[in-house]
Amino acid sequence: MPSMAIVEESTKGSGQAPVKQLNLAMIGVGVGGAEMLPAMEAMEEINLMAGADIVETTRKRFVERYPNARAYASAEELVKDPEVEAVWISSPNRFHAEHAILAAEHGKHVVVEKPMALNLEQAEKMVEAARANGVKLLAGHTRSYTVPVRAMRRIVNSGRLGKLQAINVWAYSDWMLRPRSADELDLAQGGGIPYRQGPHQIDTIRVLGGGKLRSVRASTGQWMPERPIPGYYSAYLEFEDGTPVTMVHNGYGYFLGAELVPWGESKQRYNVEERVAVRKAMRAGTRDENADKQDLRIGGQAEQEIFRSERKDPWVPEDMGMVIVSCERGDIRHSKWGLYVYDDEGIQEFDLAMEGGVIGRRAELEELYNGVVLGKPIYHDGTWGMATLEVCLAVMESANQHKEIQLTHQVAVPGDYDSDLHVPYLDA
Ligand SMILES: NC(=O)c1ccc[n+]([C@@H]2O[C@H](COP(=O)([O-])OP(=O)(O)OC[C@H]3O[C@@H](n4cnc5c(N)ncnc54)[C@H](O)[C@@H]3O)[C@@H](O)[C@H]2O)c1
Repeated sequence: MPSMAIVEESTKGSGQAPVKQLNLAMIGVGVGGAEMLPAMEAMEEINLMAGADIVETTRKRFVERYPNARAYASAEELVKDPEVEAVWISSPNRFHAEHAILAAEHGKHVVVEKPMALNLEQAEKMVEAARANGVKLLAGHTRSYTVPVRAMRRIVNSGRLGKLQAINVWAYSDWMLRPRSADELDLAQGGGIPYRQGPHQIDTIRVLGGGKLRSVRASTGQWMPERPIPGYYSAYLEFEDGTPVTMVHNGYGYFLGAELVPWGESKQRYNVEERVAVRKAMRAGTRDENADKQDLRIGGQAEQEIFRSERKDPWVPEDMGMVIVSCERGDIRHSKWGLYVYDDEGIQEFDLAMEGGVIGRRAELEELYNGVVLGKPIYHDGTWGMATLEVCLAVMESANQHKEIQLTHQVAVPGDYDSDLHVPYLDA
């Protein structure tokens, strides 16, 4: 997408009916924001017309990349722009509620990064602000939107493998070794693996199991003195019908889940030597985390290499981990480019056409566009996001109280969700 400010209609692909574009703006053009930019650029339906960030260098780099876009120094200024129709909120977690409510009150539709908010009170206010102002609110950018996860859900729902019996999701990542700013090292501001990585696994588990979990028993771990935030959790969850789930995320980066598949290696953000060097520098206090983090943001070299590479990477068990879904008569798990389905006939592997690669970040933009422009339903709405946040919070509460937490804000996956997703396994 060439970034053209205020283009109502794109005529790209001449001979075709012009596409109505959605004028989108980003609040907080940081690392998470940088991960989304290529998907926004690639979608003809999206006109990324503005960005807000408190850091001047970032604003400068934003307009360098998108010369026709507008850069604002605050969310308050951005939401006053009458031409912005929707905002993508990727500011630090402590601002998610404030920025979402601000945008809604100015009549903007909202996609908010995970975690949706720091607590349920904030999430409730966000839902209410969207309702009161008649705008859409999407709790976005989790791995549950990826095509393999959605295909797994379609297979489970089809009943071909019998009833869903268990879900196990285990991640071993180097998340805790990546550069972090001060707010990310503070649990009270939404720092740590449960807040930051929990939503990926929890959203996925809820999509696969129908949405409504009943209870959580969990432990969290904080094992690294240089990182005063939890870098580990293990949790046992149950759905309302008793279906059991385990989920684990170890972000300390010794063993990596990617090593578990034949096409994977001991590398995620960092290879073995880099992980050793990062740990040593952190222990010695010589690591310049601010510079490392800024390098991942817009215009940095690491941004270019990691988020803007033309490479098409296969799936490996990275931040989301290894997902194994067990039904009465079979199991499902990720393959290199799609899924393996184990059933009474043996093992089938099939690829899934995934635009933008396995992680593909288009789905939430499509859901936003379809909801706002085409009037279709929003599935990952505020109440959906609130239910996922409730589980995240329950993981931490259960760990603190050493007891099982009962959930009260769970909502079901809408019945028509993804009904048009093509899953080759279901063709036969
Ligand atoms: N879904 C994903 O895969 C994913 C990946 C990375 C980050 N994230 C999410 O993105 C969010 C930010 O994390 P990050 O790692 O990108 O951190 P970051 O610090 O790189 O990004 C935050 C950005 O917001 C800017 N900012 C700070 N306060 C602001 C304010 N008041 N108004 C406007 N801009 C402000 C900062 O300057 C920075 O550029 C978090 O919610 C995180 O969970 C999601």
